[in-house]
Amino acid sequence: MILKKTIGVDLGTDTTQIYLKGVGIILNEPSIVAFNNRTNRVVAVGLEAKRMLSRTPSHVTALRPITNGVIADFDMAKEMVQRFMKTKSLPWSWLTETIVGVPTNLTEVERKSVEDLFKEVGVSKVYLVEEPIAAAVGSGLDITKPTAHFIVDIGAGTTDMAIISMNGIVVSRRLKIAGDYLNQEIIRGVKDELKLFIGEPTAEEIKIAVGSAVTQSEKLDISIRGRDAVSGLPKEANVRDTQVRYWLSKPIKIMVEALKELIDITPPELAGDIYKNGVYLCGGGSMLRGMSQLFQKELGVDVHLVDEPLLCVVRGIGLIAENPGFYGNVLESFSSPLSASI
Ligand SMILES: Nc1ncnc2c1ncn2[C@@H]1O[C@H](COP(=O)(O)OP(=O)(O)OP(=O)(O)O)[C@@H](O)[C@H]1O
Ligand SMILES: [Mg+2]
Repeated sequence: MILKKTIGVDLGTDTTQIYLKGVGIILNEPSIVAFNNRTNRVVAVGLEAKRMLSRTPSHVTALRPITNGVIADFDMAKEMVQRFMKTKSLPWSWLTETIVGVPTNLTEVERKSVEDLFKEVGVSKVYLVEEPIAAAVGSGLDITKPTAHFIVDIGAGTTDMAIISMNGIVVSRRLKIAGDYLNQEIIRGVKDELKLFIGEPTAEEIKIAVGSAVTQSEKLDISIRGRDAVSGLPKEANVRDTQVRYWLSKPIKIMVEALKELIDITPPELAGDIYKNGVYLCGGGSMLRGMSQLFQKELGVDVHLVDEPLLCVVRGIGLIAENPGFYGNVLESFSSPLSASI
């Protein structure tokens, strides 16, 4: 397989990242489209769309065309990718090939939709790579060896867990509990306990400023503004780390249970490898304070938080693009018989 001009794409729920072979990561922007309902036109995408949102009139709406890692709005996703490619003057022609990270266990329709999107954007060939494989490569793991690695990618829309050995996924699981879900739990907690309505950006701010999975040595708090649930007027309140930890404890427990279940159904030899090699955590959600400590305590194995966890998938796709001879079969392993899921 000869890869010509190659672009790698991680089309995430929260962020889209693009890698250009021979150059590196050239784009890292929110997967957001600002859409004008009156003119039926896209006004902006990415960072520009995100910046605009807080100060645009009500007829401009924000759209996230990727939901839980899957294309939810084909036309908007296509327009977003097209505009991203244009801003970077990316070569899209019959000579351009694309490697796209996709979640595990995509349906045929979802998979085709990714292929169609990039074909319609203008590239000649689309290779799909399962995101946990890309994440493992991007985390510096040698996945070609007959030893098992456990990779957990906590994104915005999904938490992908996979045990990988010899270029293939042995068992995997995809939970729709990840960063976005945690934000929703914070919105709910603030409403129930503090009687305040807040939006997603404030919830995200709270999570990043004071959120944690286990007790931290320093106490944290943040002052936020929202709309009083009773009077409807703007109000300020203080949110403490202990409150946020409590609000997040339930979804995090579900993640832990899913991790345990996956180890349970892993063939014994490979489970032994996991105890030796530990678990690798990546994705933006893994940056929550104490996440790796909690997993380590609950699973009884070493948990490593990879460097720059937000970039692990695109970094992996980049490495695959740069070394097609070494990783080529990873691209073809998409429907390998080794793949199984629960
Ligand atoms: N410091 C932090 N603490 C906790 N969560 C964080 C932190 N920084 C980013 N996040 C969360 O990481 C998520 C984004 O991660 P990432 O970019 O890996 O997702 P994605 O790849 O776009 O989504 P998906 O893989 O589910 O399609 C967001 O939900 C964001 O709130
Ligand atoms: Mg992701």
